[in-house]
Amino acid sequence: MERDNELRERAAQVIPGGMYGHMSVLRRMPPEYPQYFERADGCRLWDVDGNEYIDYMCSYGPMIAGYGNPRIRAAADAQRARLDIANAPAAVIVDLAERLVQQVTHAEWAMFAKNGNDATTICVMCARARADNPVILVANGAYHGAQPWANYMSKGTPNDEHQYFHPYQFNDVTSLNEAASKVRGRLAGIIVSAFRHDAGHHQELTDPGFARRVREICDEEQAALILDDVRAGLRLSLDASWSAIGVHPDLSAWGKGLANGEPLAAVLGNELYRDAMTKIFVTGSFWYQAAPMAAAIETLDVLRELNGPRLMGHLGQQLRDGLYEQAQRHGHGIIQSGPPQMPTLMFEDDPKAEKGMAFCGLAIKEGVFLHPWHNMFLSTAHTEEDIGQTLEATDRAFRQLG
Ligand SMILES: Cc1ncc(COP(=O)(O)O)c(C=O)c1O
Repeated sequence: MERDNELRERAAQVIPGGMYGHMSVLRRMPPEYPQYFERADGCRLWDVDGNEYIDYMCSYGPMIAGYGNPRIRAAADAQRARLDIANAPAAVIVDLAERLVQQVTHAEWAMFAKNGNDATTICVMCARARADNPVILVANGAYHGAQPWANYMSKGTPNDEHQYFHPYQFNDVTSLNEAASKVRGRLAGIIVSAFRHDAGHHQELTDPGFARRVREICDEEQAALILDDVRAGLRLSLDASWSAIGVHPDLSAWGKGLANGEPLAAVLGNELYRDAMTKIFVTGSFWYQAAPMAAAIETLDVLRELNGPRLMGHLGQQLRDGLYEQAQRHGHGIIQSGPPQMPTLMFEDDPKAEKGMAFCGLAIKEGVFLHPWHNMFLSTAHTEEDIGQTLEATDRAFRQLG
């Protein structure tokens, strides 16, 4: 870790805290984790000291079809060579909007931004613009970005920043009903995650009865059902993630995997919200960049051709089955939760994730990049051989865990 340490020392002088946000390994990860990477290819990463890893974080989601996927990179590069950013967008913005409207059941229009937090914020504004009401119901502990309205974790956000955001418990119809009844007549929308993927918790798939009740309340109150598909989008389904349970949102927020790592977010909406969208002013200097949009079209093609969600589900299940068998054999109680495309691995009786940290620290030394308390991500670049190699490494890690 010579080069990594040297960079950490330099960063400590010029980057507050040495690193910030979810990429600060110092604050969040076992000590064995590298802070800096040098190269990425397919599902593999190399740190600045030359160590190679099979990656199960996929940049925390954006990488969905492989780092440096040649087709997607070529599409982005070709667009970049013609035009990326100018005084007005390139034609590809219309192509991508059409493509998403065709692919996603609830979508009748699309607009684009950069980060997931742009997309969730636009959804909130659009919902309020139509309802002419301020209140949004947000699930306790759900992450919708680091922007002040959604940020419950850090200083710098006064309490009254959240005065119009009222909590409910995900998957709990009673708490949802109670929260909604308290704000009757003032509700603009209910924001939901694709499933409960809060970091540090076992993941919970969405209860269809809960999803249907969210839809009903939104219909009764003429409020927006906002689906935050930033993290799960395109991994569970090529449609919006709740389409499998037959519940369609009014507005959905997308980002992360949409352009396989090129910076792009999208808001999709139905006809009811088209006019409201024209009434809010939202924009950004980089929101019209054409190369990420070309990358997105190619990403959607690649995922469709490979049946990405099914492939990632198959690979994730192979990983999950292997980890379960190994944990049993080595006498460790593990709890695996969430959909197989976005698996979470935690240990029983391990409230501070100490055992999880120790295991992931051993796995990283064996060349596998896992996460001790956050959901992980599969990609279409992983192969059965990669999973096999991963399981050989985790077997050694379980053995060393004692
Ligand atoms: C569910 C969800 N919503 C919104 C965001 C914010 O996205 P971004 O980090 O691109 O702003 C994230 C990021 O992790 C997320 O997981």
